[in-house]
Amino acid sequence: MKRDFLRLWDLSSEEIDLMLEKAAELKSGKDVNKCPLIGRSIGLLFEKASTRTRVSFEVGIYQMGAQVIYMNPREIQLGRGETIHDTARVLSRYLDAIIIRTFSHNTLVDFASSSSIPVINGLSDLHHPCQALADLMTIFEKKRRLKGIRLAYIGDGNNVANSLTEAASRMEINLKIACPEGYEPDPHIFEEARASAKSEITIVRDPKEAADKADAVYTDVWVSMGQEEEAEEKKKKFKDYQLNSKLLSYAKKDAIVLHCLPAHRGEEIKDDVIDGPQSAVFDQAENRLHTQKALLEFLLTSR
Ligand code: CP
Ligand code: NVA
Repeated sequence: MKRDFLRLWDLSSEEIDLMLEKAAELKSGKDVNKCPLIGRSIGLLFEKASTRTRVSFEVGIYQMGAQVIYMNPREIQLGRGETIHDTARVLSRYLDAIIIRTFSHNTLVDFASSSSIPVINGLSDLHHPCQALADLMTIFEKKRRLKGIRLAYIGDGNNVANSLTEAASRMEINLKIACPEGYEPDPHIFEEARASAKSEITIVRDPKEAADKADAVYTDVWVSMGQEEEAEEKKKKFKDYQLNSKLLSYAKKDAIVLHCLPAHRGEEIKDDVIDGPQSAVFDQAENRLHTQKALLEFLLTSR
C-alpha cells in the first residue's frame, strides 16, 4: 500500500524519530555510497517558484541513484485542461513517486486519490511538511531534544505555521504562536493538533510573550506566494511582529533562530538576527536535503 506525505501528521512520532535518525546518519556521511533508489524515476510537479525544495529534492534524488523529471504545469497537458485525476493515473504508470508544489491543498488530495505512487507535498496553501521535518532535525541537532522544547513562532499563521503546529503536537514541543488577530493558523489543523498534544500549543498576540524564555524562535514571510495582492495591508498589520534583536533578547541566551527561507530581510527578520551567532537558518536549509532523502527512502523502500 503506497504512503503519501501530504501533511506532517501522515507520519507517527515513532516514524519521525526514525527519519530524523536516518537523516542525521546521512548528514554524517556514514552511508555515502549507498544508492537505495537506483533505477527509479521521481517527478517534481511545481506550480510555484522554489529554490530549496526543488534543488534539495533534485540533488537528493541524484545522490540516491534515481532519475528526476521536473515538470512545470504550463509545459504539460495539465496546463491545457487535462484533469488532475487523469494526470495522476498516467504519471503513476511511469514514475515511482512525485513531489508536488501547488496552490490549493485539495489539488494534492485529488492527485493522491488517483495516484498509485507516493505523493509528497512540496508546499501547498495549508501545509509544508517537508519543511517541518527539516525544522525538527535542526532543533534536535542544536538542542539534543525535542520533547519539552519551548518554540516561538512569530508572524503569519500560514502553511509553515500549520505544519509546525502538527510537528509540535507530534513531538511534544511547547509552541507559542504570536500573530495578529485574523492571521491565526488554520483553525481545524490547529484545534486537532492542540487537542491531541501532550505539550502546550497556544496562540498569543504579543510577540514578546511568545519569545519569552524560548529555546527557538521561528519566523516566516508575512506575504506567502499567491498572496501578493494583500502585501501592503499585511505589511502594516505585521509591523510589530518583526524578529529583531530586541525581540530575540526575550528568548533564552542560547536560543536558536529559525526561518524556512526565502527571507524578506528588513520585514519579518532583521539582518543582524538572520546573520547573527544564534541563527541556525542555513543549517535548517541544508537539513531539507538530509530529511527528504530519509523520507524518500522510507516511502519507497521500507514496505
Ligand atoms: N523553504 C522553502 O520551501 O524554500 P523554497 O520555496 O525555495 O523551496
Ligand atoms: N509561507 C511561504 C513559505 C515559502 C517556503 C510561502 O508559502 O510562500
